[in-house]
Parts: sequence; C-alpha cells; structure tokens
Amino acid sequence: MVVSFDRAAKIYDETRGFPVFVMNKIIKTLMEELEGYVSILDVGVGTARFTKPLQNHGYYVVGIDVSSKMLRKAAERGMRNLLIGSVCSIPLRDDSFDVTMSVGLLHLVKEWEVALREISRVTRKLLVSVIRRRKSPASEEYRELLVKYGWKLPQLGIAERELEAIVKPAKSIDVTTYEVSVGKILAFLERKAYSYQWDVPEELHRRVMQQLKTQAFPEEYSVKVEVLVWDIKSICEFIQLPKE
Ligand SMILES: C[S@@+](CC[C@H](N)C(=O)[O-])C[C@H]1O[C@@H](n2cnc3c(N)ncnc32)[C@H](O)[C@@H]1O
Repeated sequence: MVVSFDRAAKIYDETRGFPVFVMNKIIKTLMEELEGYVSILDVGVGTARFTKPLQNHGYYVVGIDVSSKMLRKAAERGMRNLLIGSVCSIPLRDDSFDVTMSVGLLHLVKEWEVALREISRVTRKLLVSVIRRRKSPASEEYRELLVKYGWKLPQLGIAERELEAIVKPAKSIDVTTYEVSVGKILAFLERKAYSYQWDVPEELHRRVMQQLKTQAFPEEYSVKVEVLVWDIKSICEFIQLPKE
C-alpha cells in the first residue's frame, strides 16, 4: 500500500508549513549539521520545502517521491533532480549520497524496515530528519473521537520521531519552539487536510467535527522543533546490513 500525497499537493505547503522564522532556523541548523557534506537524497521529498533551500546553498540534492503532483510542486519551486519512485526501491547506486533526509515519510510506509534498508544502502554517512515534538491537541481529539465511533485508524509505519526510541540518534538538536493556532488546525481538519482523514467517511467526519467544535481548546499550543541526526552505521546495525 502506498500513500501518495497527490490529493494534498495543492494544500500541502499551506497546511504543513512552518512560520518563516522557524523555517529559517531549520535550514540554518541543517546547514550547520551538514557542513562538509556534498550530496543529499531527500526521500519523500514532497514539495522540497527543505531541500530546495539546501540546493540553493550549493548542495547536490536529489528528491524522490511517489506523488507526481507533489513532485510537480517541487519542480515549480525550482527544485532539480526529481525522481518518481518509492523509498522501498530506490533506483540509485549503493553509497551514492553522503546524507539522506527523511521528513514525515516513515509513518506512511508499512514496509518501513525495507525503507530503512534502502536508505542505508544508498547512504554513506548520515540519516537526518526534522521532527515536531508535540502533536496538535485538536488532531489528537479528532483521532480519539474517530476511535470512539468505531473507526480503525491505520497504523502504517513508524514516525521518524518514533525511530528515535528504536535506534538512538547521534544528535538531537533543538531548533526552536513556536506557537500554533488551534483555530487554524480545526480549519485544516474540517477540510480533511491530513492523510489519516482521507479514508474517513464523510458522515463520520462531520459527526466528529461537530463534536470537536463544542470542545474547549486553548487558543494556541507550543511545538518544539528538533533536527535528529543518525550515523547511518547505527541504522545499518539495526537492519543488519553490513557496511564498511
Ligand atoms: C508528509 S509528506 C512530507 C514531504 C516532505 N518530506 C516534507 O517534509 O515537506 C510525505 C511525502 O512522502 C511521499 N511518500 C509516501 N509514501 C512514499 C514512498 N513509499 N516512497 C516515497 N515517497 C513516499 C508522499 O507522496 C508525500 O509527498
């Protein structure tokens, strides 16, 4: 099963974006961590919101994604070197990149261990991710209501922040903390912007939204952003792939 973001391509940057000052800090942190490295593969590149700025700073970046519409958005942003394909079968040679980035991808991939094997195969040095430490209270409540009404939420892969508990990163770098408006998240939920909502029947969605709107949430919640960096050798050890 593949979770293509074709249906989200038009609204992706609007609904998942970071404020500009946060994005600038993320890129600055990535540049500090990736100093001295040359080539980066971005798996599940999406609209290339992270790797286009890195390409602008002179890195050789390749992006791969299963969604042609997300790739089109990345190309419109000026991103070069885009491939359509799955992280579970990367059409690139062994050890061809210094660094692989995976952001918001592994939770969508049922064969996440296969994905890690492929990432380890093509990567020489580091696996890098950008994670948010806090989930939105409104989204959490939406999910709880779905479960209460008998909907089975799909458990596909594991989020990059969950991988942290399985394979210890070499580094976790605090980027910043910022406030997110709950009203904005409720509006995105209403539009079924998030992938776990896409299969929810309309009637159930409306029922959950109705109940959600009666609940009291704080106006804002704090989200901490971190960059996680793994030595690729520790990922190789976990999936038992021998590496020099
Ligand atoms: C949540 S988005 C993250 C995009 C980008 N990394 C970012 O953070 O902005 C997940 C992306 O992974 C892609 N995707 C899902 N399954 C994939 C797979 N098996 N191989 C490659 N890309 C995949 C989706 O099409 C989508 O563009």
